[in-house]
Amino acid sequence: MSQKSSLRAIPIRVESASSLAAAERAAVLEVCTRLKTLAGPLLPILHGVQRALGHVPQDAVPLIAAELNLSRAEIHGVVTFYHYFRKNLPGRHVVHVCRAEACQSVGAVALEAHAKKSLGIDFHQTTRDGSISLGPVYCLGNCALGPSIMIDERLEGRVSPERFDAIVAHARLPGGTR
Ligand code: FES
Repeated sequence: MSQKSSLRAIPIRVESASSLAAAERAAVLEVCTRLKTLAGPLLPILHGVQRALGHVPQDAVPLIAAELNLSRAEIHGVVTFYHYFRKNLPGRHVVHVCRAEACQSVGAVALEAHAKKSLGIDFHQTTRDGSISLGPVYCLGNCALGPSIMIDERLEGRVSPERFDAIVAHARLPGGTR
């Protein structure tokens, strides 16, 4: 047997290069270290990363994959499956419009159309001035007071198009909603 044929590849774990800034990289690794021993740790880790960084950067995927011993494709698949996970940094304020049935029966369809037109963006987009990101949500537990929206951490009920504009205008003021 030749020396060449007796050589065997030694599997090594290579953590891929990432263009994450050092602070972001440290935040991702901290979340992974803290949560990876949970049963089914991927979703809690993705939530933790989004909480820490405001989104799940593409460059966080290889780090998370390496920490969990999963493929990048598996992580990427989960990030893209759940619309809740943002791939880009959100605006200063995030508005979620409820699209679930109870709200739809009392005007949420018209409210959604108004929100998109008024802000000039679609769901999963951010206004040009970086102030507002818009997203859908499926029930905020405020069904009796629909149509409902969530702006940052604040729940608003009975939101007419006019109230929507007023809420957004207030949020855009210096020191507005949060
Ligand atoms: S259906 Fe909109 S809050 Fe429940």
